[in-house]
Order: sequence, then structure tokens, then C-alpha cells
Amino acid sequence: MTTFRHFYVKSTKGVTDAKKINLKDIPGTSGRLDIIARSINAAFWLSNNIRRNVVFHTILHGMPDPPVYIRFEGEKMRKISPDERSIILFILKALERTRENEVESTPGVFVSRKNFEKFIEENRDKKIYLLMEDGKPMKSINFKNERDYLFILGDNLDLSEEEKQIAIEAGATPVSIGKTSYLTSHCIVVINWYLDMLEREVE
Ligand SMILES: C[S@@+](CC[C@H](N)C(=O)[O-])C[C@H]1O[C@@H](n2cnc3c(N)ncnc32)[C@H](O)[C@@H]1O
Repeated sequence: MTTFRHFYVKSTKGVTDAKKINLKDIPGTSGRLDIIARSINAAFWLSNNIRRNVVFHTILHGMPDPPVYIRFEGEKMRKISPDERSIILFILKALERTRENEVESTPGVFVSRKNFEKFIEENRDKKIYLLMEDGKPMKSINFKNERDYLFILGDNLDLSEEEKQIAIEAGATPVSIGKTSYLTSHCIVVINWYLDMLEREVE
């Protein structure tokens, strides 16, 4: 049985109008969607392949028209390369096609309007982990491989207290990869590496 790894990264200021984003200045014009692009890179890419058992979720909360929910499914993604510019291009295509109800803007990329509460409600079937510096040490967690995992992370502005509370009420376990505060994308690399290592141990 394949256990899927889901990652959610909040985009606190991610701009929700494709026309306002300049590909020559992604950090300056996109509300730091470069963080989301690097997180997507970290979630999916291996040296010569992409992880088909990964699903990446984000909600853009920036102006002018939030929230926009975007999901990347590794099983179906095609033609996306690991560089930030390519990933941002696919986010722009998703923004151009945003509807109330979900549409597949390009293969494996889905977009709709959804807030965090609804997102969590729809993903309660997963084993949820809330990444925070003062959570339980990752090595003390018994990753059982029974249910799909959902890891929730903040961007440079973190999650709000309300969002953390919503996740905890849905059964999330706070988990820490150490006392040092790392970049979101680096946390994702560590999680993928750690789960890879555990899976190799039981092979
Ligand atoms: C750059 S950090 C946020 C930094 C800091 N909390 C702040 O806003 O001042 C981005 C996200 O990475 C995750 N993170 C960073 N370091 C972590 C650690 N040591 N353990 C678990 N998660 C971590 C958290 O989900 C955090 O919201």
C-alpha cells in the first residue's frame, strides 16, 4: 500500500491576480510565492524523478481576491520542471482559471476557492501533523504508515493562532524537527528524508 504524503503550506500574502505578478521579480511582486515554489520543489523533486506519492496544497491569502486554494498532485503532474520560474508559471495558469468550484488548470494542478477551515474539514481522514518549533521531537513520533500523512507548515509569517487551533481541534499532532527555526522548504526536505529513511528500514 502506498502511503501518500500531503504537505500544506500557507501563503499569507500570495497575490491572487496573475496579472500583478512579474516573472522577473517574483519575490517582490507575488507576495512571496517564491516560498511556495521552493516548497513545491522540496516536496516533489528527487534527483532524476518526481515523487508520485506526494500531494502539495496551498491557500493564497493575498490581494486582491483571496482565498485561492491550489493543489499539485504528483501522480498526475506533467511538464513542470523544478525551477522556481516554471513552478510559478503553473501557479499563474491556476490563478487565471480560478473558479468557485474546482477546475484542473493544467495536468495535476487543481484550483478553487476554499478557506483553511474547509480544507482541514475535507482532510480529516489523514494523520495530521502541525510543524512548529516547540512541537514534539520528530524522532519520538511513531509514523505508522497506516493512513496518509498531512503536514501543515507556515510560510515566513507562520500560521495564525486560529489556524493552529483549527488544526489541533482536527486532531493534529504538533511536531518539531528541532529548536532552530528553519525555512519552510527545508523542513519539507527533512520530513521527506526522514520518512524515506523509515520506509527503507522496513523494506
Ligand atoms: C520560517 S518558519 C516561521 C518562522 C517563525 N515561526 C516566525 O514566523 O517568526 C516557517 C515554518 O516552518 C516550520 N518550521 C520552521 N522551523 C521548524 C522546526 N524547527 N520544527 C518544526 N517546524 C518548523 C513551521 O511550520 C513554520 O511556520
